[in-house]
Amino acid sequence: MGGSAPTAVDRRPSTRRSAVLLALRYYAAELRRNRAVAVPGLLLPALGTIGTNYVAPLIVAQLAGTLSTGAGLSAATVLPAVLWFVGVLLGAEVLWRIGIHCLNRTDGRGIEHLYVVGMNELLAKDTAFFHENFAGSLTKRVLSFASRFEDFVDTLTFGVLANLVPLLFASVVLWRYDPLLVVVLIGMLVVSGGLITPLIRRRQQLVDRREAAIARVAGHVADSLMNMDTVRAFAAEDGEVAEHRSRVLHQRRASILSWDYGNLRIDTVVAVMAVLTNVFGLLIAVGLGGGRLGVEALVVTFIYYLGACRIMFEFNQIYRRLESSLTEAAQFAELLLDPPTVLDPPSPEPLRAAGADVRFERVDFGYPGGQPLFRGLDLALPSGSKVGFVGRSGGGKSTLARLLLRLMDVDGGRILIGGQDIARLRQADLRSLIAYVPQDPAMFHRTLRDNIAFGRPGATDAEVRRAAQAAHVTEFADALPDGFDTLVGERGVKLSGGQRQRVAVARAILRDAPILLLDEATSALDSESEVLIQQALWQLMEGRTALVVAHRLSTVARMDQLVVLDHGRVVEQGTHAELIESDGAYARLWRHQSGGFLDDPAMAAVAG
Ligand SMILES: Nc1ncnc2c1ncn2[C@@H]1O[C@H](COP(=O)(O)OP(=O)(O)OP(=O)(O)O)[C@@H](O)[C@H]1O
Ligand SMILES: [Mg+2]
Repeated sequence: MGGSAPTAVDRRPSTRRSAVLLALRYYAAELRRNRAVAVPGLLLPALGTIGTNYVAPLIVAQLAGTLSTGAGLSAATVLPAVLWFVGVLLGAEVLWRIGIHCLNRTDGRGIEHLYVVGMNELLAKDTAFFHENFAGSLTKRVLSFASRFEDFVDTLTFGVLANLVPLLFASVVLWRYDPLLVVVLIGMLVVSGGLITPLIRRRQQLVDRREAAIARVAGHVADSLMNMDTVRAFAAEDGEVAEHRSRVLHQRRASILSWDYGNLRIDTVVAVMAVLTNVFGLLIAVGLGGGRLGVEALVVTFIYYLGACRIMFEFNQIYRRLESSLTEAAQFAELLLDPPTVLDPPSPEPLRAAGADVRFERVDFGYPGGQPLFRGLDLALPSGSKVGFVGRSGGGKSTLARLLLRLMDVDGGRILIGGQDIARLRQADLRSLIAYVPQDPAMFHRTLRDNIAFGRPGATDAEVRRAAQAAHVTEFADALPDGFDTLVGERGVKLSGGQRQRVAVARAILRDAPILLLDEATSALDSESEVLIQQALWQLMEGRTALVVAHRLSTVARMDQLVVLDHGRVVEQGTHAELIESDGAYARLWRHQSGGFLDDPAMAAVAG
């Protein structure tokens, strides 16, 4: 299974601790938010347990005590006890049902809200974040962050509270017989907790190794299956099976090691402690006051001690479940430790409708960890002008587009639209000014219509169709099985590269924004389709400021202004004619392309 982003486990312990604390804060906030159901949900099962496991035996023990004193089996002695017994058991069941009812709501509402919170946090992240984290790993983390809440709350309810609260009740009852019973019971629980905690840690390592072995098996299976054609072509089935066998063997060894450790080490220690505790309890109950305590205390002590000793066996599991749910939640919370860098200003300026001229003023920018790309870049694009950006690959054309959209922030200088610094606008306001066709337009796995309408939510069907018509989408859309209702496949795999570009152009046409930002918007089209779409784009550019990046110079040759970028520097600027005249980098590129593409109708249209 491909590479995976660093997890909370490989990060520094301090980061991990902060991430766990942050996850805990999110979970605690959910409990507080839903406290009307969370409090009964957490506590009623504990009270129910007290009823069935502690009060009911107490009634039976009292009855046994009464009978043992020689009182006959009369209705007066037995009936009240039986009624109490029935009442307590019924009451406990009612508490359980109400408790679980509330718990289900606590879990459900918490998970629902955490899904939304998680997605909101991710949507607030900047572009750089998504370049550093794989979508697959993010998806898994954000979903686990929400779903693990259920595990956490359930363990808290059934593992922690349903054990501790009844223990408190038992202590009060036992205390009335003899405080020593409580001291010994709690003492033994604490001692065994202390004894097995280091063992649980050691077992954790074995469990981690087991999980890693399982992941290695899964990774190899996925890898083999995905490359099945290659495996077949090279007749490598035997080799693949051998590798699989060895990984499975490793998994079996790792699994048994961790299971044995649980059974032979941890539970053996617990077993000895449990037997000792029970024996101590019985001895105290019998021995104290030479039998003064009587049958009731004897039976109650026996049953309570037995119940309390079950906690020792569950301790391991409770610890592991709490730890694993928090660890997974922390893997998401860790992503939130570093706040996003591209933020809305605290008091954003309202958009002034003051034209759409674009100015880059002394802009510095470099990708994190890389060389600076732009140093003191100055560019002024008058409102309503059409500007073509050309130049060698890696020159910074797409980066310039992303900076204008404020997908990343400049390191120095500023970018102005209509005289307003884009860093002082709300991001949504800024982006409402721009229709952007990215270099590699991705599609949503939604219908063709939805993909186009994404450009302007609320657009009517007629508007969507007009945009589709202008971008020549209709031509291929009508041939698709469901027309505009066809699902385009993940990332648009069912469309060709050129078709995806036409959809992206239609989206931009529909957007109807004062600034057009086209990054190689027609590069994947054949020259003929390009000429057609260019016509639509020229119409669209009318009265708007257009920034058009293109490798195919014929696409931009007729623009008002051309900017040649190389290594983040503007090396030439002017109209096509001026740049040909000055015989520099652009003229060389032009000669090269027109030499190679003389048959190109688009080129002929410009040159001829
Ligand atoms: N996300 C990124 N992280 C780090 N460096 C990047 C990133 N994106 C681009 N770069 C680097 O920044 C430089 C400019 O890239 P950019 O994509 O702006 O070039 P371009 O002019 O659009 O090239 P092309 O014509 O190939 O599209 C390149 O050296 C590239 O390697
Ligand atoms: Mg580019």
